[in-house]
Order: sequence, then structure tokens, then C-alpha cells
Amino acid sequence: MSSKPTVLIFGGLNTCSRALAAFLVPLEGDARVSHLRIVDKFSVHPPTTYIGPEFAKVLEKPEVDYRQVNLTITAAVASAFDPPEGLSTFDHVFDFTGEVRHDRSSMIQISTTFAVARLLGTEAAKRGVRSYVRIQQPFYETSGKHAAAEKDDIKPYETSGVWWHESLRMLASIQDLNLVVLRIGFVYGPYTNFGNIASLITVASVYGFLKRPMKSLWSPGKNPTNTVHVDDVAGAAWACAEWMASKGRAEANKLAGEVIYFHNDKSVMKDAEGVRAPDEKPVAPLFNLVDDSNSTLLSTGSTISSYFGTTFEFFNIVENAMFKWKDDLDDVNEQHVEGWTKMLTGSDPSITNSPLNPYMDKYTLEKHVLALDNAKVKNIINYQLLRPEFNHANIDELVDKWKQEGVWPNAARNS
Ligand SMILES: *[C@@H]1O[C@H](CO)[C@@H](O)[C@H](O)[C@H]1NC(C)=O
Repeated sequence: MSSKPTVLIFGGLNTCSRALAAFLVPLEGDARVSHLRIVDKFSVHPPTTYIGPEFAKVLEKPEVDYRQVNLTITAAVASAFDPPEGLSTFDHVFDFTGEVRHDRSSMIQISTTFAVARLLGTEAAKRGVRSYVRIQQPFYETSGKHAAAEKDDIKPYETSGVWWHESLRMLASIQDLNLVVLRIGFVYGPYTNFGNIASLITVASVYGFLKRPMKSLWSPGKNPTNTVHVDDVAGAAWACAEWMASKGRAEANKLAGEVIYFHNDKSVMKDAEGVRAPDEKPVAPLFNLVDDSNSTLLSTGSTISSYFGTTFEFFNIVENAMFKWKDDLDDVNEQHVEGWTKMLTGSDPSITNSPLNPYMDKYTLEKHVLALDNAKVKNIINYQLLRPEFNHANIDELVDKWKQEGVWPNAARNS
């Protein structure tokens, strides 16, 4: 019998779970686990979401199995927890589920974020798993003046933020669950085509191609938008799992427990079964995870723009006041899409299908203020960042991988 642990990953095929899978069962070298099961709503044969070439190879490893499961169905979730023949209960569970689109209603967020996490957390507690690591996306607004520590009560951002946060309160209140929450910054990295940074990178490449400056709607000010590399999401999630397995929930709460405060609208709570009462103050071990760059809108925009040989500038106040979210957003996107399409067709050979697109939705263009202090995960878990800096080398790596895959235009200029 192998002494390596067994691992279940739920969700996140479209966000960060492929990076975790590759971290646990690397293409080269020894696996960290004896068995890895990945469970999500998508099909992988054929893929119904972008998975990239590396993950397709991870899926072929003998330690790995993949299950396409409707995560809103109790019985289907329960059977996904059944260990493979001859193995005992899964040791570690990674909960990377949750709807990351920002145009979804409360109703949809309740069924695809809150209710799914509730099914998973409840079943994981029943099975007595040694750790349950929940990834919390950066759907918050912090103060622009100082980085938020884990004990600070920060405000969830819009509907998505409210239900992601409510999911934490619900999970935290499951006493028998060996829960650790990892609250991440804006994620980027190879094969990571979701989120604001991927969108910025694609759009900046268009401005580089058009030889025009990229312009932001928001004044430079202090606009923290802290970043994190997807390899660090994987590495830190694993570090949290091992830490929890050595402590257990009660001890972990003593060392790293934080109150998860109420931030919902009382009138919609009745729509979701299992929401905790406003006066409850559930506690869970919580860690921020961002890199050491202290990324801001200006620093991220400048790093990305300069990589593509252009500059990052700001609209003046008059231009800003005249921006109309509906019409101007459509115009801007039309220009981006037109430029990107030219780049794809002009590539050699020309590209007909890419997982990237330069379309910026309202959320991507809105002003975000997200500064998280990363001291706690370093001090308590002893986690060392693999990619402490958001820089050209890290952009180069991900663009290169997409070029090799044949989905990034080779005509796009790099500096
Ligand atoms: C998943 O199950 C729910 C509940 O039965 C159902 O409403 C939904 O359509 C299913 N989703 C898919 C993709 O089949």
C-alpha cells in the first residue's frame, strides 16, 4: 500500500484546478498523491470547456481519474466521494467550485455556488476527510489605504461576492469539517484564460498590435489589484491541506480562525436553504494569498502593456465623465474584437479557434480595489511563494505556452 495521500478536487476546471492537478501529478517526476480524482460538471472527452494540452496529459496518468458529475445533485456528489476499489476514504478535498461569472443573478449564484459548496462540505464532514480547502475568489472590495488582513471585515463585491462569502459562512459553521479557506488575488498563469488578468493581457496585445496606447477609465491613484500566479494557488492550497491534516479543525481555529461576518440582504436569505442567521459568527481558518508585487491597476497595466510594446495611460476626466457603460462599452469591445480577429487570421498558420478573447465585460472594466496582506500564510503555514513577482518573465511564459499550443497569434509583437 502506498503511503501517499488520496485527493479529490471538485470544480474549477475553468479556473485553477488544472494547475493543482498538474502540481499533484506532474508530467515529469513523482506524483505527490497515490490517487487523484477530479470532479466537475464539464466533459473532458471531448472537452466542453478549455482545458489546454498539459491537463489532457495529466488525465492520462494512471493515478488520475476524472468524473463528469452534476454537482447540484446530492446522490451524485455522495458517490463522487466513494473511494476507488481497495482504497479508504479520500484524505484531502479541494473545493474549487463556484460560479465566477459576474452577470449571474442571486438565484443562479445560490444554486451553483452556495448550494454546491453546501453539498460538498456536508458530505466531506460526514466522510471525515483530513482537510477541505476552499478557494475563495477575490470578489471583495478592500480599503485602498492598507492591505486587508484576514481579521479585517471586508465587503463582498456585488451579487457574486455576496454568495461566495455566504458560502464561507455556511462552510465555517460545519463544525466537523476540516476546513481551510484560501482567499486569493487576481489569478494569472499558463492556460489560465479566465479572469481580469487574462483579459487585460489579450486586450493589451491588441493595442500593441495596433501601436496604440492602452487607456484606463480609472485614475491611477491608489488602486490596488493584487495578483497571484496560478502555481501559487496550487502550491498554497496543498500546503494548507497538509497543515490542516496535521492539526485538525479545533487546533487550526485556535491558530488561524477568523470570524466570517454577515454581509447579505436579509430579504433574499429565505431563498437559500442553509444560510446562517445574521447574528451568528462562524469561525474558520482563513489565509490570504497574493504575490509580493503589491500590484495596482497602474503597475499591472504598465507591466502588461510594456510587454506588448505599448504604454498604459489614463483617460482624462472629461473623457471619463462621458463614458457610457452601454454604448461605449460596445464600441470599445468592437474595436478589441476586430483587432484580435485580424491578429488571429494574420497568424501563420492562421488561428480559427482560441480560448482567449478580448471582450471586456462590465466587471472587467469596473474599478476594483483589492489589497490583501499575505503575511499570515507565510508565518503560520510557512508557505514560500513560487512566483513572488508579476513580471515580463511570467507573462512571457504563459504567452509562449499559448503560442506553442497554436492558440495565440505569432504575429503579436512582444517587446
Ligand atoms: C443538474 O441537475 C439539476 C437538478 O436536477 C438540473 O436542474 C440541471 O439542469 C442539471 N444540469 C445539467 C447540466 O444537466
